[in-house]
Amino acid sequence: MGLAGRHLSRNKVLFFSGALFISLAVGIHLSPYLPSLSLPHLASFLLLPHPVSASASSGSSCVQFLHRVSWSNAAGAADNGSGGGKARAWSWPPSLASACGFARLSRDDASLLLNGSWVMVAGDSQARLLVLALLRLLLDPAAAAAAEPELFRRHSDYRAAVPARDISVDFVWAPFESNLTRLLREDLRLAPRLPDVLVLGSGLWHMLHVTDAASYGDALASVAGAAKSLRSQLPEPPPHMFWLGLPHLVNHMLNTDAKRAHMNGTMVHAYDREVDRRGVLRGEGGSFLLLDVGKLTQGCGQQCTADGMHYDGDVYDAVMHIMLNALVIESQQRI
Ligand SMILES: *[C@@H]1O[C@H](CO)[C@@H](O)[C@H](O)[C@H]1NC(C)=O
Ligand SMILES: *[C@@H]1O[C@H](CO)[C@@H](O)[C@H](O)[C@H]1NC(C)=O
Ligand SMILES: *[C@@H]1O[C@H](CO)[C@@H](O)[C@H](O)[C@H]1NC(C)=O
Ligand SMILES: *[C@@H]1O[C@H](CO)[C@@H](O)[C@H](O)[C@H]1NC(C)=O
Repeated sequence: MGLAGRHLSRNKVLFFSGALFISLAVGIHLSPYLPSLSLPHLASFLLLPHPVSASASSGSSCVQFLHRVSWSNAAGAADNGSGGGKARAWSWPPSLASACGFARLSRDDASLLLNGSWVMVAGDSQARLLVLALLRLLLDPAAAAAAEPELFRRHSDYRAAVPARDISVDFVWAPFESNLTRLLREDLRLAPRLPDVLVLGSGLWHMLHVTDAASYGDALASVAGAAKSLRSQLPEPPPHMFWLGLPHLVNHMLNTDAKRAHMNGTMVHAYDREVDRRGVLRGEGGSFLLLDVGKLTQGCGQQCTADGMHYDGDVYDAVMHIMLNALVIESQQRI
């Protein structure tokens, strides 16, 4: 009964940039959902007595544009020729943002969207950096700063909560694909409840320690199969699933000889291909929507990384907002 209550539909109103933007089915885990709404321009929406039906420019067709962000040097950023410390800012082109309704979510909007939800992010250090971005959005700055040392404790799991909104965020240290498969096949299968949002991603450790794209592909196929079987036995709406892609690697900046020897553009390309063709992603029969870290890290560029592999917070902030906007779109579509 306690669980059943979680799946009732409720209206939610999101405030983007302080302005009433759109009302949508609330709580990404709640079902049934309201009928699809269009994402009209703010002004026209406010003039409408009722939401109009979905137009061609909204909804699922917009998902494909989520990664079209551009990067610029942040205003006031140090640009004195020192090479480092040059902050980069990301944005969606205004026309795209307005046509598709993409927006950065404020702390209040994000916590409303995720109200009552459990977000699990499992993987390697890229996954950890995504969790950090999420905590920086959801928590106040002091609380996010306090969480950081715990989150970055080497090779361990971490859980944060936003009690006011009943939101839990879990980071699960799972650097290898076998760790992810185990999570799906054993830990989550036995859990009393599943996460509402599940983000998985790995590959860097495999590239460093195994260095074999075909074997990575086999391991990915197991992850994909485990995700599918988890979804198929669920009586409830399945989690929203995202795959966190590999970052762009700047080979000469990598900080060990082994990394420089095993992790280069050729390998990343071969590993990316496996993600594309092993049934992980939707469109390939899989369960996951790709969060294209490769594209975003490349867009931010070399000045956004100190070690050629881990990038500045802005990159993961972009990854997170792309994920949240995908959730907004999906929550409008689950009817
Ligand atoms: C450039 O700016 C950075 C950050 O403000 C500062 O640390 C660095 O010393 C400056 N370098 C030069 C050459 O002025
Ligand atoms: C948030 O979720 C809780 C249950 O988890 C619910 O009681 C509450 O009404 C929700 N708040 C909003 C604003 O949707
Ligand atoms: C992840 O998998 C590796 C290889 O199978 C194993 O050695 C390691 O203990 C696992 N780590 C966790 C956290 O489960
Ligand atoms: C990239 O790394 C792989 C694996 O170590 C190696 O076989 C290949 O020669 C490297 N390619 C380049 C262009 O460095």
